[in-house]
Amino acid sequence: MKDYECVQLLQWALPRLRLRWAGFRKVRKQVCKRVDQRLKELGLPEAREYHTYLDAHPEEWSVLDELCRISISRFYRDRQVFQRLEREVLYELAQMAVANGEYDVRCWSIGCASGEEPYTLAILWKLGLAPRFPTLGCRILATDVDQRMIERARRGCYPASSVKDLPEDFLAQAFLRTADGFCVKAPYREPVTFLEQDIRKTVPDDQFHLILCRNVVFTYFDDELQRQSLQQITERLVPRGALVIGSLESIPEGGSGLEPWSKKLGVYRKSLET
Ligand SMILES: C[S@@+](CC[C@H](N)C(=O)[O-])C[C@H]1O[C@@H](n2cnc3c(N)ncnc32)[C@H](O)[C@@H]1O
Repeated sequence: MKDYECVQLLQWALPRLRLRWAGFRKVRKQVCKRVDQRLKELGLPEAREYHTYLDAHPEEWSVLDELCRISISRFYRDRQVFQRLEREVLYELAQMAVANGEYDVRCWSIGCASGEEPYTLAILWKLGLAPRFPTLGCRILATDVDQRMIERARRGCYPASSVKDLPEDFLAQAFLRTADGFCVKAPYREPVTFLEQDIRKTVPDDQFHLILCRNVVFTYFDDELQRQSLQQITERLVPRGALVIGSLESIPEGGSGLEPWSKKLGVYRKSLET
């Protein structure tokens, strides 16, 4: 399939999946390769025939939806964000939890891919924050729509390229080097619970001090779905809780009840009056 054929197909199909072309423009090669493979499986010689096929087989839309998942991630992705979380954001949230007589800081990583993001949080907590908050635990819920991602996350072993941005002491303390690569040690796995969940359909019942929603909703979802998701996410934050989005992302206009903590780093805080 030629690039322009794939672009035409995606520009037609993505809005029907409530996704947006702008998010996929730079990463389309991955998606186009998968769609090409799917066309071969279905015996369709040309991309335009996939239009007709989708019209005739509505169940195919969920197959295409799966083909459109981008799962790039790595530990400590966007170093400055995690530094700020450690020095200030998580620190203040932990202080707030202690002041409220709570036993845990609760975090939610949405679109957690193979676990790089929630494990980074667990490492940050154990090595950076826990010594300063001996009475406080940290619980991290990590959700992803993709079952294979969740399975990989539970395995918790990674190639060197996934851990290359981690500070050396984090790497040395939190990982075992094995034949399977760099494997997260048990104490850093223990705070993290992985769950297969589609943010478009379900959100957890809990209230969180910190929610990471990076490089998924505000990159790939269409405007209306972004707004709806943002509202649901904000409702899951405790008063003065923090939301972190991707460093190249922005929240929809009028971002319901959030104020910037650091707009540059994509950190927001729930306003008191919501
Ligand atoms: C690009 S990765 C981002 C990983 C991590 N948050 C980061 O920034 O490094 C996007 C992840 O979101 C997941 N995802 C996509 N749509 C989703 C949905 N509707 N609900 C939950 N997760 C979703 C994908 O499966 C993928 O693992």
